[in-house]
Amino acid sequence: MPASTQSIREIVAIQTSAATVLQRFDIDICLHADESLEQACAGLQLSVEQVLEKLADAAASEHGAVAVDPAGYSLSRLIQHIVRTHHQYLRRELPRLAEAAQKLAGKHDPRAPEFVMIEKLVEELRADLLDHLQKEEQVLFSYIAAMDQDAKVASSPPRARFGTLAQPVSTMIREHKSAERIVAALRSLTNGFAPQEWACPVHSAFYAGLRAFEADLGQHVHLEDNILFPRALALEAELNRRGRKTKRRWQAANLYLNHAALSTKSSPPRMGRTQPHQEGRSDETLL
Ligand SMILES: [Fe+2]
Ligand SMILES: [Fe+2]
Repeated sequence: MPASTQSIREIVAIQTSAATVLQRFDIDICLHADESLEQACAGLQLSVEQVLEKLADAAASEHGAVAVDPAGYSLSRLIQHIVRTHHQYLRRELPRLAEAAQKLAGKHDPRAPEFVMIEKLVEELRADLLDHLQKEEQVLFSYIAAMDQDAKVASSPPRARFGTLAQPVSTMIREHKSAERIVAALRSLTNGFAPQEWACPVHSAFYAGLRAFEADLGQHVHLEDNILFPRALALEAELNRRGRKTKRRWQAANLYLNHAALSTKSSPPRMGRTQPHQEGRSDETLL
């Protein structure tokens, strides 16, 4: 957690969410880069305690996003967690990172020619992942949630326009790998997201943002590739097995009924009280 004696530059470099919090208080992170938080707040007539409190809240929610044990979650609850935590994070962070990358590339600093490529990669990541989230939420996750909700009573998986789950799941895994390759390229271009000594606070905050982004993506992909998708595929296989069993039972029942109907047709009529009386014989002799 940052201290009031730390400089704005240090604070944005160690806490990913700090730049956003400070901007909300109208603290220009470039202009006040070398001032301590205390000095910047005094100059702007802000309460340093209030700023520290907001920084602490933001740090707590950053850590809260990672400290999750999804082992006991149902598939629907796990999807809800992924969307609320990781998808929302991406929708918030990707435009922010793309904007910062554009700003830094636009400076054309001869000391950092790599920013041209960094901007391109961040933009590619933004476009690819926003499209990926939409596909997951609108197609795959809604199918898995529907399958999970009916799992106790259903005798087969819900109908899907994509055939079986294996196809969209393999597409999503391929897209995760592609996003991870882009992040690895960014890590290499930025020397492990380590800002140079001369870096301005926007530059430091951007690298801190990329580092946090890498960590969040790792957690997000782990939840989907290693927990959600294998469990959803197993449930689909279980529902298919249940469906085949039900079909076999129906076939056996139909076979029995057809056989019974045929036997009834070929047997001679049985005598009983309902048969017409035969001449010269009493009812008793027909019983
Ligand atoms: Fe996702
Ligand atoms: Fe995904």
